[in-house]
Formats: sequence, C-alpha cells, structure tokens
Amino acid sequence: MTLQKATNVTWHEGEVTRADRQQLLGQKGATIWFTGLSGSGKSTVAVALEKALTASGHLCYRLDGDNVRLGINKNLGFSAEDRAENIRRIGEVSKLFVDTGVIVLSSFVSPYKADRDQVRALHAASDMDFIEVHMDVPLAEAEKRDPKGLYKKARAGEIKNFTGIDDPYEAPEAPELVLYSNRMSVEEEVEVLLALLSERGLLSGAA
Ligand code: ADX
Repeated sequence: MTLQKATNVTWHEGEVTRADRQQLLGQKGATIWFTGLSGSGKSTVAVALEKALTASGHLCYRLDGDNVRLGINKNLGFSAEDRAENIRRIGEVSKLFVDTGVIVLSSFVSPYKADRDQVRALHAASDMDFIEVHMDVPLAEAEKRDPKGLYKKARAGEIKNFTGIDDPYEAPEAPELVLYSNRMSVEEEVEVLLALLSERGLLSGAA
C-alpha cells in the first residue's frame, strides 16, 4: 500500500454528483482492464473495442502502457516498485475517468496480482465496475509475434527484467474474462467483450 504522505488534507465535496454526470452522458462509466504479456494483443483489442463502442454512441478513453509511459509515468522504469507505482497511478486515473462517466480501456502488462487487486479494490470502494480481462497467449506465441522486437532484445540480454523472459507474469486467478488471442480473431474478441458489457448493463442508455 502507498502511504498517505500529505497531512492536513480533507476531501472537498462538490455539488454535482457522478449520477448527474452519468445522466448528462447517458451512460455509466467502467474500467475494462486488459492484462497480459507484451504482444498478447491488449492494445489491439482495446483499439478495436474503442472503435465499436464509439460507433454505438459510447464515450470511452484508452490508457495504454507505452503511451502513458511517454507522459504521466515517464519517470518510471520496470522494477517491481516502478511497475507497482505505474499501475497505482493508472488505477487512480482510471477511477477519475469512471467518475466522469467514461468507459476506460486500460492496457497494461500489469504482471503483479497484488497491483491489479489494488486497482480492483479502489474501484469497489467507490462502487465502480472493474472488469479484468486476461489476454492469455502462450509466451512462445507472444515471442513469435514480437511486434516491437523486444523479446529478441531481451533474449540477447539487451533489455533486463523483461516480462516473461527474466521477470514474472502472475496470471489472474479469477478474471471476469479470458481471451485467447491466438485462437480468436479481433472481431470475435470485440463481440465477446460487447456481450459481457451488455450483460452488465453498461451499454444501455447511450444513443
Ligand atoms: S507494466 O508492467 O508496468 O504494466 P506497461 O504495460 O506499463 O508495463 O509497459 C509495458 C510495455 O513497455 C511493453 O508493451 C513493452 O512495449 C515495453 N517494455 C519495455 N521494457 C519492458 C520490460 N522490461 N518488461 C515489459 N515491457 C517492457
């Protein structure tokens, strides 16, 4: 747990509620959290889902490992501590977006169960939907794809602490959904995701 460092700070309540914002948007916010090895298809499916949701009148926003590490988290590396801080910040950012009524699509390797569970607890404490999706591909498949050539570099020892090679990946034990991207097309994955979101009442109300 990250300690509260600042003292003498108190929460200041506004006069507009989350329910007001949801009504304004005609939708309920939620976080869809994609976790999996680098090259497992997290970003690809998030991009496709974002497109489908937007086309059906839902406001969503994508948070992606590489993008976020070029901005708000540019001061973080890949040690276990930095990955934990990366996920903690993204969890808080996701929560802010959900509070505005947006559907957040977060794609991070997020290899540690404890870090993901902390984000889940953060959402639960504010009565927010958190849907964990495990992009489950065998390491050999992710390594074969190697879209950024990073596995090759990790095998050559040019990158240290690379997830799956010399750093751990703790698979979720009870995710809301598992997608096997080596056996499903992106279209099929989006279909399954939309069905799950609909089942949870997250797709009603929009145009
Ligand atoms: S996380 O572990 O903290 O969740 P995050 O999703 O933000 O990772 O970033 C992972 C991305 O950074 C990968 O998709 C890959 O492109 C790149 N990357 C660079 N170095 C590493 C590394 N050592 N381990 C994993 N990914 C890395």
